[in-house]
Amino acid sequence: MRTQTSLLILIAVMIGTGTHLVNAQQRDTSMDNFIDGLMGQMTIDEKIGQLNLVTAGEVTTGSIVSTDVETKIKTGKIGGIFSMTSVPRIRAAQELAVNHSRLKIPIIFGLDVIHGYKTIFPIPLGLAATWDMDLIRETARIAAKEASADGLNWTFSPMVDISRDARWGRISEGSGEDTYLSSRIAEAMVHGYQGNDLSADNTLMACVKHFALYGAAEAGRDYNTTDMSLHRMYNEYLPPYKAAIDAGAGSVMTAFNDINGVPATANKWLMTDVLRNEWGFDGFVVTDYTAVNELIDHGLGNLQEVSALSLKAGVEMDMVGEGFLTTLKKSLDEGKVGEADIDRACRLVLEAKYKLGLFEDPFRYCDEARAAQTILHPTHLAKAREAAGKSFVLLKNDGQLLPLKKAGTVALIGPLANTGSNMPGTWSVSADLENTPSLLEGMRAALGEQVNIVYHQGSNLLADSAYQERATLFGRTIPRDERPEAEIIAEALEVAKQADVVVAALGESSEMSGEASSRTDIGIPAVQQRLLIELLKTGKPVVLVLFTGRPLTLTWENEHVPAILNAWFGGTETGKAVADVLFGDVNPSGKLPATFPQHVGQLPLYYSHKNTGRPLADGQWFQKFRSNYLDVSNDPLYPFGYGLSYTTFTYGELMLSTDTLQRSGKMQVSVEVSNTGEYAGEEVVQLYIRDLVGSVTRPVKELKGFRKIQLVPGQSQRVVFDLTEEDLKFYNADLEHVAEAGEFIVFVGTNSRDVQEKRFFLKD
Ligand code: BGC
Repeated sequence: MRTQTSLLILIAVMIGTGTHLVNAQQRDTSMDNFIDGLMGQMTIDEKIGQLNLVTAGEVTTGSIVSTDVETKIKTGKIGGIFSMTSVPRIRAAQELAVNHSRLKIPIIFGLDVIHGYKTIFPIPLGLAATWDMDLIRETARIAAKEASADGLNWTFSPMVDISRDARWGRISEGSGEDTYLSSRIAEAMVHGYQGNDLSADNTLMACVKHFALYGAAEAGRDYNTTDMSLHRMYNEYLPPYKAAIDAGAGSVMTAFNDINGVPATANKWLMTDVLRNEWGFDGFVVTDYTAVNELIDHGLGNLQEVSALSLKAGVEMDMVGEGFLTTLKKSLDEGKVGEADIDRACRLVLEAKYKLGLFEDPFRYCDEARAAQTILHPTHLAKAREAAGKSFVLLKNDGQLLPLKKAGTVALIGPLANTGSNMPGTWSVSADLENTPSLLEGMRAALGEQVNIVYHQGSNLLADSAYQERATLFGRTIPRDERPEAEIIAEALEVAKQADVVVAALGESSEMSGEASSRTDIGIPAVQQRLLIELLKTGKPVVLVLFTGRPLTLTWENEHVPAILNAWFGGTETGKAVADVLFGDVNPSGKLPATFPQHVGQLPLYYSHKNTGRPLADGQWFQKFRSNYLDVSNDPLYPFGYGLSYTTFTYGELMLSTDTLQRSGKMQVSVEVSNTGEYAGEEVVQLYIRDLVGSVTRPVKELKGFRKIQLVPGQSQRVVFDLTEEDLKFYNADLEHVAEAGEFIVFVGTNSRDVQEKRFFLKD
């Protein structure tokens, strides 16, 4: 809300004419009065209508699509519409609402603006790899500017589900495995979308999702059950949602999954006790796509019963399924819900519209001229290129193969090398797929004549055509070559032989991660691996540019390929950004926000695990009767926080200002970091702690701070972290947020594995 205190606020609620003019600079009492006045005129059907969110079906994000949208708008049966884009269409729908419905209540327009609107930034997991909160905030700000210029005022983002199981396809949409990093990102994104004025015409209302614990689906299978202790929820999985709420997120989306026996969409404890009563959330809760109806399959009753359950649990808006619309009146008549339940929900939805300034001007977000000026603005594309370059993680670089020289011939080979439609990555529903440059096109545009790039697709994405079809939906096709594999590879090798260096663009298509895209085998598909083996046999230096929406098992690749750059899916400017990094204009600085396992059988695998009663002795990978596997060590392939640079950073000795922290005091933890290599670069200095003795068991390491610094060769900087009692707090067995006196270890380093440590005490 605007903060300028101004003159007395004038409200003109022109009851009777049905026009609601309200000054945006309101105190809450004005909002209350306005909504009281409006609700006083509403029939119960109109109130229920406000709880109905329909999809225009323009972009597909679920299997059922709403019908009769126009009639429903005119009869007051719709509160919000999503998946409708562009000013003319949104204006037309809004006109139906404000000119043809009885009370002329404006509609809220939502969309999955997840990592950009038309200018697409890296997938969220990639953005998380930047560890750059200002950059992440800016990407959300740009997304909001573009989407709000095009008629939208609500985004279904940020997605803050912690996931520690890379089989789950939606790990690509979140910030990875870590509670602290995800929480900071959740705040940055909410601030980016909402700015400090929700009613401004260039901000969007955020919707934090999926509340809650969606990323902990059993076996990484999408929509699957979650059963989790309260202790783990409070310490590890809930904080990012809370951080988004504390940052002011205006709405929350329920998760699809079952949580300890009660699906999130009907979970009163979650929606009311935790979200409202403990956290003080005052926005509205929307279900996920048809999640109310899915409560029937969860086994909670028929549509009328589950709709009542969901409303009473604390849900306000029903996405697509129309259970609320079609059954709540009956439930009210039968005494199964109270009028107060419906009023509560209706009021919260109206409040959101009020905060967005829609009653003041329902067309606030509809301005073709602004849309034309804003969308894909060159400054946005420049930011997308910067963000992509910063999201890439250099996983391996033997013998300083990278950066490459801007000369000679490069063979760009692989099924991901020339597919523009796959570059935006999953959940980029508004991307212009046709006009997104492929890696080949982007590299050529960035490098011009300096480097000769020759190309071959090299292999299919997947050997199995049916699997490939499932993995390339929504216009993200990759052409298939049905000739024998040996023939295709032989042709590719001819191309490789012309070059000084081979860049192999391999990995997943964009739709191999994301919703309903779980995988049991998380390696590079075998057909692509066979191509890679042949490319390596040519004796040419091979750089693997990896496309992926999740941690992959790269054990073989790590052993055999000299250089590996993980590009995730970098968005609109992927191609240019890859060229920037491969040829040294940008020094890679991304750090993994999720552990890369050696083997899928290790999952869930995360750095912040408990010690167990039978940990391995230092330096051992197998000991009988210890917690380990017979065949593979417990180590990850690449640990959380890992990522190389073209330069080298040397850490001086870790220093503590004291070895005893007083409860009200603070301790400085510092280290001098020097750039001892030959390139300017950025380093993410990471601080972890371990609570050695507690009333409940504590993880072996927990991230509690990080700094991203920039150093030119020869430059040093002392990085100082202030540690206070607050950083040592956790939820104990009674779910009290406490710091317990005793001994701790603080670790500082370049990733979660390679750290220095010092001990200290927290004193009462
Ligand atoms: C997804 C949500 C998304 C919604 C609307 C669902 O299938 O789970 O993340 O916001 O569709 O598109």
